[in-house]
Amino acid sequence: KEASANASKMNAFDTQECSLINIHVILINYFSKAIKTAYPNLEDFGQPAVTAGSKFADYQCNASMQICKLLKAKGENVSPNAVAKRVVECLEKCDIIEKVDVSGPGFINVWLGRNKLRDILQFILDNGLKAKPTVNKQKIVIDFSSPNVAKEMHVGHLRSTIIGDSLSRVFEFIGHDVLRLNHIGDWGTQFGMLIALLQDKFPNYKTESPPINDLQQFYKQSKVLFDSDPEFKKRAYDCVVKLQSMSPDHVQAWKLICDVSRREFQKIYNRLNINIVERGESFYQSRMENLVKELEDKGFLENDEGRKIMWGPECSIPLTIVKSDGGFTYDTSDFAALKQRIEEEKADCILYITDAGQSTHFDTLKKCAIRANILDPSRVRMEFIGFGVVLGEDKKKFKTRSGETVRLVGLLDEGIKRARDKLIEKGRDKILTEEEMKQAETAVAYGCIKYADLCHNRSHEYVFSFDKMLEDRGNTAVYLLYALTRIRSIINNLGTHCENINQPISLDHEKEWKLAKTLLRFSEVLSKITEDFCLHHLCEYLYDVATTFNEFYDNCYCIEKSQTGEIIKVFTGRILLCKITAEYMNTGLNLLGINTVSRM
Ligand code: ARG
Repeated sequence: KEASANASKMNAFDTQECSLINIHVILINYFSKAIKTAYPNLEDFGQPAVTAGSKFADYQCNASMQICKLLKAKGENVSPNAVAKRVVECLEKCDIIEKVDVSGPGFINVWLGRNKLRDILQFILDNGLKAKPTVNKQKIVIDFSSPNVAKEMHVGHLRSTIIGDSLSRVFEFIGHDVLRLNHIGDWGTQFGMLIALLQDKFPNYKTESPPINDLQQFYKQSKVLFDSDPEFKKRAYDCVVKLQSMSPDHVQAWKLICDVSRREFQKIYNRLNINIVERGESFYQSRMENLVKELEDKGFLENDEGRKIMWGPECSIPLTIVKSDGGFTYDTSDFAALKQRIEEEKADCILYITDAGQSTHFDTLKKCAIRANILDPSRVRMEFIGFGVVLGEDKKKFKTRSGETVRLVGLLDEGIKRARDKLIEKGRDKILTEEEMKQAETAVAYGCIKYADLCHNRSHEYVFSFDKMLEDRGNTAVYLLYALTRIRSIINNLGTHCENINQPISLDHEKEWKLAKTLLRFSEVLSKITEDFCLHHLCEYLYDVATTFNEFYDNCYCIEKSQTGEIIKVFTGRILLCKITAEYMNTGLNLLGINTVSRM
């Protein structure tokens, strides 16, 4: 109940005059109202089921059977058909609806009004597809990407980055205030060994910047020493203590190390066009100290063989708040971060995007935060958004042949190369300028990597395959990018033929009408994403738009040409539909973080 109340706060779509009109919601409200009028005593009736696009109507309301059952329980015996008729009698006037009737066993069929929908599409054509400033602006913190310093950023972080960026875009588009946070692993005991090794190997690190570009190697080396050399181990511990008490030399060494990783991460973000604010675990050091005091004072901490732990209600494992050596953990920093986001950032909603393996961690965190009165779930929505693992083409965990983690820079390079080969294979290099080739290959490469991730249900695993994602048929980024460039070229090729159109958008042909209805499902799709955070809905929508557009284009002449190829007639009402389709596709692809091009 709480979750759905919170969800509807975020689903700030207008049901009125605006480009994000949500027909589905309008119809649900419309039927709800009529049902209440018709049957005021049906307290336990929830929302009527309304579905789109049956063969018989534009929308259909299937509430009658359910109402019958409820009436029967009250001792009233009526047929679904009679119920449907009664509901229809109670419907008020609604300008998006042209006609309503009842069929067979009580289905209520709805036909939308073409004039009203034409007005809405015209509004979008004139104003672009954008949300009105929302009345219900929410502060949404999205914790994503979050790789670890001195370790390789792997495909799991890539998934988190792609999903987090796209979700951020969706919420920003709706008009919310989004804080994109990179909770990088930049704190903890591993920094003791890294600093100790830095001091051994590059004693001049304070004046000369040390050549530690291969931090992984450096990390491994320090780990070996840590495990084999008790003297080193002791010094490493000492370094952690000094770092956490902010000794300037140790802080400087730590910064040097973080900088190396930061530069590597930034390369990926630049290439994928990701905006994110770095706020790593280190940020919370003083807040962790305060939190521990607070939890201790309120009596939430228990001693467990020297560790301080906290149990959440009905949890199978506790959070470790303080280790036996006095250090803090991943749990501690996440707890402090959650408190900071609620109390300082004033977040209404906090989302965590990591692999599904961390769900227990976040579940325990949530329950402990509620127990400690830090999180009030009726006011703040905290959601864990897990995703499945990335598999290689052998259906095993995605690794290099020698079993190591795949380097993301290398992966992106390979994507670029493959995209270029594909374009050359189609002879595009002979048509496009070098500049256009570059734009096309990056749009295709990064677009297909992102799309392949987003088009699968995020909670499932998926197979990473360049061959698959670069196919130009089926539900792929390449298909969509081609579809959009094709629509754009239809418009561009008209040149001066298409200036000053003052004809109405054409909606008379069955295929024109189908396209219009498909396009207008956009906000329904976004609204679904605010409920379940699944971006594949948007991918499916875009694929649907592209195929419906093709159906329209195959059936409806947009341009008539003479035998010599000269334009003799332009069906401007249809060209307008092309323009609107391009607007929707461009917006949708942008929300997925995919750049579009005008030629490819
Ligand atoms: N650094 C972690 C990892 O690589 C992910 C952090 C996710 N965010 C968080 N607030 N715990 O697994």
